[in-house]
Order: sequence, then structure tokens, then C-alpha cells
Amino acid sequence: MVKKIVQEGLEAVEKQLRDIVKSDVDVLQDAGLHIIRSGGKRLRPQLGILAYLAAGGQDVARVIPMSAAIEMVHTATLVHDDINDHSMTRRGQITVHARWGRTFALLAGDYLFTKVYELMAPYPSEYNVIMADATTKLVEGETLQAAAAKAGNMDRETYKTIISRKTASLFEAAARMGAMLADAGEEMIEALAIYAYNLGLTFQIVDDILDIVGDPDTLGKPVGTDIAQNRGVMATQNGGLAVQEAVAEMEDDPIARMMANLRESGALEIARMQAEETAVRARNALTSLPPSPARTEMENLIEMVLDRQN
Ligand code: IPE
Ligand code: IPE
Ligand code: MG
Ligand code: MG
Repeated sequence: MVKKIVQEGLEAVEKQLRDIVKSDVDVLQDAGLHIIRSGGKRLRPQLGILAYLAAGGQDVARVIPMSAAIEMVHTATLVHDDINDHSMTRRGQITVHARWGRTFALLAGDYLFTKVYELMAPYPSEYNVIMADATTKLVEGETLQAAAAKAGNMDRETYKTIISRKTASLFEAAARMGAMLADAGEEMIEALAIYAYNLGLTFQIVDDILDIVGDPDTLGKPVGTDIAQNRGVMATQNGGLAVQEAVAEMEDDPIARMMANLRESGALEIARMQAEETAVRARNALTSLPPSPARTEMENLIEMVLDRQN
């Protein structure tokens, strides 16, 4: 039953995403529809809907524009992230910048960001503040990451700050707003926010592991990007400088060799343990909620994130 409600909610989100990118400026509409239609796991809107249901919400329509807005922030940042990471594939399709060029990709990303205002406009100001805060954190996280990679000082503490801001903040905002829209009490809102925040950390650590051991076809995006950009799991374990030196020493295909070295080094096992730790925190946060099918779905989501291959 809850699966069906979530499914219908996600279909409504999908429709809203497609409708809202309509424009008489063809390239904005085409690029917007391209990235939206390419798919994606829609994990963040799912969190918004599930938090609403777990908090006792009855009218899923209330969370649809907010969940679409959260997905739109994510989508916009992917378009820009792929420019920064020089990635050619995303969600199994050509990236926006590879197809339309950098200028239009920057503008398409901007366009998608502006659509967030439109989607959030019907909500009271406190929701807009949460959204603005999460989006600010995301941009700060991406910027701190680029700065740390450039300076070669990606230590473990910096890594934690980066993934907390660039990924966990948006997960948290989705669940927090979902719970608030269900008129949940303070305690329940916090529990769901803590759950989603830790799920977000787990999600990003697993993403960084997949960048080293994942299959690009299954992922729908390239692997080895983090190593190429001097960051990520390997950087947290070895220190950015060491990585740079190691790359400089290698002659043929340094990225592939670095990936192989990392797989041997035990760094991935450490990262895996960190992911398990944050997953435990997510699981614990849920125990304060009354049992419900939505809560069970949220528990399952933790396992899905830990086991995901795409
Ligand atoms: C990719 O997120 C960016 C990260 C935070 C790692 P997703 O893996 O959720 O991307 P889609 O939406 O499923 O394509
Ligand atoms: C997620 O980090 C970036 C955003 C929050 C936009 P990644 O750079 O690891 O994401 P992927 O691997 O390209 O999806
Ligand atoms: Mg990237
Ligand atoms: Mg990644």
C-alpha cells in the first residue's frame, strides 16, 4: 500500500518536473527535459514523501511541489557538477555540456535552479528558508571540495564537512520538510531529519567507493572521476598530496593504476566501515518513530543505499 502511494507520488513529481521546464527558449527546455527524462533514482523526492507518510501525513499532494523542488536542485547541480568534473555521461546518457556545450549547460543549470523558486513559492517562508539553507550548503560543499582538491589537503575532517554539506544537507531538508508538512511534532521532525542526514552521508561514501569499484555502465556515469580530480575516498585515506605524487610517478593510464592500488590498499574497507557507521546512525534515528509501513520503507532504503550498484 505505502509502495503504491510513494509510486503515485513519484509519478506526480515526474509530471511536475517535466511541466515546469517548459520554455519557448528551445535549448533550455530541451536540455532540461534531457536530464529529467534520463531518469535517476529519485531518492530525494522519495525521502520527502516517505517522511511525510511516516509522520502521519494523509494528503501526499502537499509534498509534491516540495519534493519536485528538491529533485530540481539536485538535477541543476548535476548539470553543473558534470561541467566541473568533465564527465561525458550521466544517467546513462550524454551530459548536457557534452551535447549542448559549456555555455548552454551553465545556463540550463541556472534555469533549473530558478525553477526551484517557482516550485517553492506556494509554501510558507520557513520552508523556503530550509530550502535556501540546504542549497547554500550544497554549493559550499562543492566549493570546499574543489578548493581542497586544488590545495591537496583533503583530510578526513575536510571530507566529512564536504559530504555533509554537498549531499547530506539536501537529504535532510527533504525529510525535514516532509515531516513538517505532516504537522509532526518537534521530536519526530528531528528524528526524520537525523535519519535522512545520515542516509545522505552513507549515500555519498558509497558513491565515492563506487567511483573506484563500480561499473560505469550500471552507474550510468564514469568512474575514476574522483581520482582524476584528486579527491574522494582515496584522498581521505592517503592525503591529497600523496595521491598527486603517486599520479605523477605513473606513466601509463595513471587513473586506472591508482584505482587498482586503492582496491589493494584497504582504503575501501575503511570507507565501507564509515558507511556502515553512518547507516547505524540512520537506523537508530528511526527507532524513535512509531512503527509504520513508511518507516519500514525508510529502513529498507538504508540497506538499498548500502548495497546499491548504481
Ligand atoms: C548523484 O546522485 C550525486 C551524488 C550526490 C553522489 P544520485 O546518485 O542520487 O543521482 P541520480 O539522481 O540517481 O542520477
Ligand atoms: C555529488 O558528488 C555532487 C553533487 C552534490 C552535485 P559527485 O561529484 O561524487 O557526484 P557524481 O559522482 O558526479 O554523481
Ligand atoms: Mg561528479
Ligand atoms: Mg561521485
